[in-house]
This record gives sequence, C-alpha cells and structure tokens, in this order.
Amino acid sequence: MRVAVIAGARPNFVKIAPLLVSLAECGIDAKLVHTGQHYDWAMSEALFRDLGIPEPDANLEVGSETHAVQTAKVMISFAEWLDENPVDQIVTVGDVNSTLACALVGAKLGLPVAHVEAGLRSFDHAMPEEINRLAVDAISTWLFTPSADADENLIAEGVHPSRIHRVGNIMVDSLLANLDVAMKCPIRADLELQPPFGLVTLHRPALVDDPARFAGVLHALDDIAAEVPLLFPVHPRTRATIETSGLGDATGWIRFLEPLGYLEFLCLEAGAAIVLTDSGGIQEETTVLGVPCLTLRDNTERPITVTEGTNHLVGTDPDTIRSVAARVITEPVAPRRPELWDGHTASRIAAVLAKGTPEVIWTHAGATEHHRIG
Ligand code: UD1
Repeated sequence: MRVAVIAGARPNFVKIAPLLVSLAECGIDAKLVHTGQHYDWAMSEALFRDLGIPEPDANLEVGSETHAVQTAKVMISFAEWLDENPVDQIVTVGDVNSTLACALVGAKLGLPVAHVEAGLRSFDHAMPEEINRLAVDAISTWLFTPSADADENLIAEGVHPSRIHRVGNIMVDSLLANLDVAMKCPIRADLELQPPFGLVTLHRPALVDDPARFAGVLHALDDIAAEVPLLFPVHPRTRATIETSGLGDATGWIRFLEPLGYLEFLCLEAGAAIVLTDSGGIQEETTVLGVPCLTLRDNTERPITVTEGTNHLVGTDPDTIRSVAARVITEPVAPRRPELWDGHTASRIAAVLAKGTPEVIWTHAGATEHHRIG
C-alpha cells in the first residue's frame, strides 16, 4: 500500500515525523509531499533536521500567496504529482491551507483521505483554519481525533461514528520522543537565562495584522518582561508587523529572537514559568509539560487544555493579560496528560490505515449512503 503524507507548514512537520515512522513499521510505503507553504530555513529545514524527517519525495514549492492562490497552487501541483505518482490513500494533518488543498484533490479523485487532528472547532468562522477544518472533515474517510470533545463536535455535525477514530494527540508523540534530547540543548546557556523566564509566540492574523490590538498586547508583554524576562521567537508574519509599525522600538524589555528549531523551542518551553501564545499546538504542549499557558485569543479549538490542562483563555485585553500572568507565574501546576496523549498516537493511526479502506457511511442531513471508495 502506498500513501501520500502531506506537510506544508511548521506545525505539520511536528505531526508527520512520528507518523512516517509508524507507517513504515506497518509496512506502508509513505511518500512525503512538502507543499512548500513554509520555505524559510528556520520554518522548514530546521524542523526536518531536529525531528529526523527524511527529505521529502516531492516539494511543490508553492510559497506565500493569498489564501485562494496558495490553496489553488497546491491543488494544481499536487494533482500533477499524483498523476505521475499514484497512491492508495492520502494522509493530511492539522488545519493549514495545504491540508485543505490536498484533501480536496484526493477526495475529488475518489481517493480515501485521512485527517489527523479532526473534529477541533473554535466555532469562529473568521479564522481561516476553522474553514479548513470544517471542509477537510466533511470529505475525509478517516477522522482521527485527539479527544472526546472533537468526537462530540463531529457527531453534532452529523458525521457517522464509523468515520471517527479517537487516537490521541500526535504532537505529544513528538514531544515525548524528543524531550530528553531537547533538555540538553545549550540554548538556555547561550541566552544566559536564569529561571524564572517566559516564552511568547504570536502569529495569528487576527492579532498581528491589527496594529492597535497588537500594540496593546506588546505593551502588556513588555510590562511583564520588566519583571520576568520574556523571550519572543518571531514568526515571519509577525516580524513584518513589528518592523512596519515600529513597535519593536517601543518595547524595551522583551527579547526578540529569530524563529527557533523544534528542540531549542521545546527546551525553552519546558523550562518556562509562563508561555503566552496564540498558537494551537503550544496550548497542548504546555498542558503536557505542566507549564502555565495564557492563550491570547477569544476562543480555542482545544478546550481540553483549559478544562484538563494548564491553559487560560485570556483574550487580548492588556490589563487581563497582565493580571492573569502575575497570578499564574507564582502558581505551581502539575503536568496533565489527557487520555491517549501518551506518545502512541501515530502507531494507532498506522494500525487503522494498514487495514485498508473501510466501508464508509456518509450521512447527508438525515439521509445515509454506504459505499466503499478508493
Ligand atoms: C500558517 C497557517 C496557520 C499556522 C501557521 C504556523 C494557514 C491558513 N495558516 O500561517 O494555521 O498556525 O502557518 O506557522 O495555512 N513567511 C515567510 N517564510 C515562510 C513562511 C511564511 O516569510 O517560510 C511569511 C510570508 O510573508 C507569508 C506569511 O509569513 O506571507 C504568512 O505565511 P502563511 O503560510 O501564509 O501563513 P502563516 O501565518 O505562517
């Protein structure tokens, strides 16, 4: 059996690394397709190096574009690649534009598509990732979910339970496999860091492309950094805003860094007294690491990190950020692992895929269709 595994953007690389290993262990011939959505060394090759991911079998080199053009370019290039390199299944992860584009191409060709990290919902249609999640889940044969709330979302949308496989959180596979090595990174010594310190990541358009909102957040972070050093590895999108707005000069305490590799980032994250982020995966990683996390958004598609983990959904009001940060830095928390976040998610997925394409039950607003695809 041959499958195409799709990866396009930084968080995808963390998810496909353990999957490629488990697919090989099950005797599945996995071809890695890198769409090229992320292409800077620090956003792509650094992760491949740290996670031991082999060279991709194809790089579609689509680069940065508007959503429509980026999605369309991935679709055209992936369809051309599939024409030359037929596969039996397509495996997509996460919720980026590359995930949507390749799932659409596969489904239109009648190929079975697997979606890893299915069922997450922020219920915020202004988020590009929410559109991607809804669309990919609607057309995927296998919906591999990380937690019970994701199953419930899919059931509420009318998905037949036969398509849902709760397998746990695949990012946790990479985290647990790499934590010991990461802790030996010299990054803390290189940065002359003494605890306590904090870590910041912000890249979502809803925040960083809104200069007034972003300025308020950065000033709040700068006040926190005056008390507890804050390191901020800056995503290229965010750097563009900081440079054009002059906000970097208005903040004297935050230490801005280039984007970090996976191991260096994990080393800082595991040792941080607080993490402030708008990322999805970092909400999950901090839960497993037992590090307090402030999510600077109004909603999260990962509510289990709040109900069972260390995450606090604080929005972007500067006073709220300051006051919750001051509180959690002094509050000790224990690492929490939601059920099945145990480092064996990839092997569960591979075992399901190795059985071949199942009979699928597609439900359409009350009507039900049974058929085998692929
Ligand atoms: C994408 C995903 C987002 C994910 C994030 C992780 C979508 C809709 N968004 O957002 O869900 O959380 O990746 O990082 O798919 N750029 C570079 N070099 C790169 C990549 C990007 O300079 O290697 C710059 C470009 O100016 C580009 C901008 O960053 O226009 C945004 O990149 P893009 O891939 O469109 O979206 P992200 O914001 O990275």
